[in-house]
Amino acid sequence: MSNVVIVGALFGDEGKGKIVDILTENADFVVRFQGGNNAGHTVKIGDNQFILHLLPSGILHQDKTCIIGNGVVINPEALLKEISELQEKGFKVDDNLIISDIAHVIFPYHGLLDELREQKKGNCKIGTTKRGIGPAYADKVSRMGIRTSDLLNPKVFEQKLRLNLEEKNDLLAHVYNGKPFSFNEIYDTYYEYGQKMKPFLAHIPGILNTALKEKKNILFEGAQGTLLDVDFGTYPYVTSSNPTAGGACIGTGVAPSKIDQVIGVTKAYSTRVGEGPFPTEFSGKFADWFRDQGKEYGATTGRPRRCGWFDVVLTKYSASINQFDYLAITKLDVLDQLDSIKICTAYRHEGELFTYFPGDIDILDNCEPVYEELPGWKENTSGIRDYNKLPKNARAYIERIVELVETPINIVSVGAKREETLFIS
Ligand code: GDP
Ligand code: IMO
Ligand code: MG
Repeated sequence: MSNVVIVGALFGDEGKGKIVDILTENADFVVRFQGGNNAGHTVKIGDNQFILHLLPSGILHQDKTCIIGNGVVINPEALLKEISELQEKGFKVDDNLIISDIAHVIFPYHGLLDELREQKKGNCKIGTTKRGIGPAYADKVSRMGIRTSDLLNPKVFEQKLRLNLEEKNDLLAHVYNGKPFSFNEIYDTYYEYGQKMKPFLAHIPGILNTALKEKKNILFEGAQGTLLDVDFGTYPYVTSSNPTAGGACIGTGVAPSKIDQVIGVTKAYSTRVGEGPFPTEFSGKFADWFRDQGKEYGATTGRPRRCGWFDVVLTKYSASINQFDYLAITKLDVLDQLDSIKICTAYRHEGELFTYFPGDIDILDNCEPVYEELPGWKENTSGIRDYNKLPKNARAYIERIVELVETPINIVSVGAKREETLFIS
């Protein structure tokens, strides 16, 4: 392995956690570069399931160094809880975890503003995770943000927090009819969080660039997915960061010239949580049946995920933005029972045929998907350990996706566990 970026190809929850856990074996460092605890990355080892929100999924490999980069927004309460829960399960989380000293911190007013903004938007709501992600990134960009290392400097922290509370309390009182936050309460609590995070804090670019000189292998773990990217996704129904491959550089301080490979993770079908266009979405009883088959409920919020057919138009767009070297395709086993399976190859909108991503989300919202239908395989694939032993129709499905997306598939996942993974060489 060399320096590899793992990216969600569509709307998040593609199975990135599982793929990162598998590829961690060949890495020295595993680095989260964007997002926050809106992410929920599942790793299943034997019968034990772990859901990581802020810690890189490589943390379960105890001999690797895990890093939370500057591009991540950190809720210290959630982070410290995640660390102590893992420690209680017997995992070491000390010098194997390094947290950026310049990552931005999520405060209680971010969470509340996230919720109130969503309420105010009514029918136009985004369906956020209400973790304060958008408001925290907004403060970062508007240069109001408070960074992890600020929590260690009483004078700087006090000044920045006062400035923020003046503004936020005003907003709460006059726009949202909300109660103000108390300076002392937040200051004391977050000063304490700062002290607890102190042993983990460091400036990451130096560490990673030294590692690169020493020819160490770095695995960059994306959160969310390409269609949720604040620039390239289905704006405004997106998250507030860049989950695309370029985000790995901005969110860590590693130069683009040092990235050797980009791997896209996608499901063998599509899912989306929250609002926003989803051309191939199922409806009716089939949608409910399918969600249960795939156990499609959010790893962070428990919300039911919307499910739909595999979408070539979106995946091709994602492959081109990220320049995937290959795809890892997960949850093939969820399709085992189907008589036939559809693949969306284009969209029809007002007499026009779109085979490429239309930037206008109104088109995505109102288009009619054009499908190609392939026969199912009606066999259980979870027990299979060799790609060539998959049913003929399952391989034909995979190979048709390769052809249509014009990107190789090197990993096929047929179950949540580590061993339920097939490698195509
Ligand atoms: P992430 O956010 O991309 O890491 O994905 P999530 O963890 O939110 O959601 C993926 C879900 O699918 C988790 O419950 C995984 O345990 C599960 N999963 C991953 N790969 C497979 C697979 O090949 N088959 C099945 N049945 N489940 C899988
Ligand atoms: P992982 O890393 C799926 C979605 C939310 C909402 C939109 C904005 O597990 O794949 P936010 O709270 O980020 O402001 O919400 O983005 N979303 C995700 N959907 N997987 C995720 O993370 C997500 N993180 C955010 O549902 O539609
Ligand atoms: Mg998830």
